[in-house]
Amino acid sequence: MTKTLLITGGASGIGAETARRAATCGYRIAVNYRSREAQAKAVVAEITARGAQAIAIRADMAHETDIVRMFEEAERSLGPITHLVNSAGINGRRGRVDQYNAAVLAEVLAVNVIGLMLCCREAAKRMSTRHGGKGGAIVNVSSMAATLGGRSGSSAYAASKGAVDAFTKGFAREAASEGIRVNSVRPGMVLTEMTEGRLADTAFRASIEASIPMHRIGEAHEIAETILWLLSDEASFITGAMLDAAGGGYII
Ligand SMILES: NC(=O)c1ccc[n+]([C@@H]2O[C@H](COP(=O)([O-])OP(=O)(O)OC[C@H]3O[C@@H](n4cnc5c(N)ncnc54)[C@H](OP(=O)(O)O)[C@@H]3O)[C@@H](O)[C@H]2O)c1
Repeated sequence: MTKTLLITGGASGIGAETARRAATCGYRIAVNYRSREAQAKAVVAEITARGAQAIAIRADMAHETDIVRMFEEAERSLGPITHLVNSAGINGRRGRVDQYNAAVLAEVLAVNVIGLMLCCREAAKRMSTRHGGKGGAIVNVSSMAATLGGRSGSSAYAASKGAVDAFTKGFAREAASEGIRVNSVRPGMVLTEMTEGRLADTAFRASIEASIPMHRIGEAHEIAETILWLLSDEASFITGAMLDAAGGGYII
């Protein structure tokens, strides 16, 4: 069966590393980006240099029309979507609850939760045997923040990832008999463009590393390999799972 993988937020960090590594796993790959056109094209060039077919598609995960168009474009160029990774995500403005801003909260939920759910809707319409599809696999990128409410100032982000986990479980149960597996991966702190600013502060980085049982932060390729395994047939009996890729979680 031809495998076509769509990765949201695929131009940087965990999404980009997943796209690069997927190139040698037999996928045709659609790399979604919002603002990082040059990075997305560079990822596509790396994939094609490894002999796989790939395209970059601009689409904002906060906009339903963009999401629908992204699936249509990917399908037109690469064939039916069989695999999906939802990696697009934002931190929002970090802060205490008494500093919350409604517009920032709405944006975090629009991208991290509603956008992800709408991508799953579009995937379900194509993958589900109920709709004539041949099944598929989906990995939603959640976060260890979902388990503890997040580190200081990250409660809104944590709540969005908690929603991702709850949705993943519900969707997985609904789609299990229709050939679709849905799982979430919960990375701990990983060095990417999302975190590099804060991790450049050596005192902050040391405090984070001290709180992780493995005493180090993760690397994007470690999360990418976890995602690719969950997408693969090697994980054929796994659905509705939350897999922590977090060096042991938190020392409390
Ligand atoms: N790094 C960590 O420590 C960590 C830990 C746990 C979970 N995660 C999760 O891992 C996922 C990937 O993050 P990352 O660490 O790889 O950081 P990253 O490099 O910042 O990747 C996030 C990507 O999402 C894209 N994105 C954001 N809003 C979007 C939108 N509205 N539409 C389309 N794309 C959008 C960004 O592109 P633009 O900038 O162009 O919008 C960016 O390429 C996220 O869901 C994040 O919450 C990360």
